[in-house]
Amino acid sequence: MRSKIVSISSYLPEKIMTNHDLENIVDTSDEWIVQRTGIKQRHISDKPTSYLAYMAAKQAIEGIISPDDIDVIIVATVTPDKILPATALFVQSLLKAKNAFCFDINAACSGFLYALSIGDSYIRSGSAKNVLVVGAEVLSKFVDWTDRSTCVIFADGAAGVLLQPSDDESGIIDIVLHSDGDYTDLMQIPAGGSLSPCSKEAIDNHDIYIKMLGNQTFKMAVQNIVAVSEEALNRCNMNFSDIDLMVSHQANIRIIEGVAKRINLPSEKVQIALDIHGNTAAASIPLALDLAYKQGKIKKNSKILLNSFGASLTWGASVIVW
Ligand code: ACO
Repeated sequence: MRSKIVSISSYLPEKIMTNHDLENIVDTSDEWIVQRTGIKQRHISDKPTSYLAYMAAKQAIEGIISPDDIDVIIVATVTPDKILPATALFVQSLLKAKNAFCFDINAACSGFLYALSIGDSYIRSGSAKNVLVVGAEVLSKFVDWTDRSTCVIFADGAAGVLLQPSDDESGIIDIVLHSDGDYTDLMQIPAGGSLSPCSKEAIDNHDIYIKMLGNQTFKMAVQNIVAVSEEALNRCNMNFSDIDLMVSHQANIRIIEGVAKRINLPSEKVQIALDIHGNTAAASIPLALDLAYKQGKIKKNSKILLNSFGASLTWGASVIVW
């Protein structure tokens, strides 16, 4: 039995930072950021990731199930509240979901698809009936606010879905995931882990913040997103022309438009949210999906293609019939 998304919801912190605000922090311009990324503004949080995840999760179950009914909570994040314990446990406590088991997934911008795949598997195997999958990030706490190549891109937000067994043909049809561990240098936080524990030197070198070789990552993104999307659609006996809406990880407008061009998808079938959300890593796909839902772009039986490419390196695609 496949799983289906029975509800989706999101939470964005109140504070908005525009490109013009960033002009006062680093040597950049609204023109450069819009032209090179498509981002116009982003939300910035003064609260931890678990709070954002909780706010999204609370709304996702409202009026459908009680917190006691949640079997599993999976939080996809690269910006956990703490290295130990998992952020999902803080979310469990806030939700008072005392019957759930909970854990985090770290697959950067593909984190939501990885978490969705695990949640889907629990439902397909019959071991869970109610699975909460949340993508949540507070990247603003992990960016170097003196590094213009990253601080203009990353942002905060959370969105989550409730998965339940599908009682018809709709639901998550397939998810394809890939990784390549030979490129771990492309995007990383160099210090703070067991390889290079936090030290005064690491703090002085800004090694506790995100470092990204954006240009090299960019070059691999379009090709891999197209290939994995094709792979997922092939497995479902579908073509790009069957798709009603593509919801990609919102890293860069040039990547999304490059993919759309390669697969001949018209702009009205391509969801864009990065102009108002920025790059929210694991939260980006569910945030964009929720926005599309609120904009009325998703109807019963809509065929949706989700795809992502992220650090370092993870990528994937999913085909959903709503
Ligand atoms: N403002 C003004 N100039 C800037 C800025 C800025 N904010 N940032 C960089 N520049 C300058 C650079 O210094 C460089 O100047 P130079 O030519 O004098 O040396 C010039 O702009 C071009 O720099 P590039 O890095 O080549 O810029 P690019 O066009 O590649 O855009 C970007 C950078 C936006 C990061 C792009 O490479 C990108 O989107 N990469 C993909 C990111 C991605 O997909 N990451 C994985 C997902 S995220 C995740 O997993 C969490």
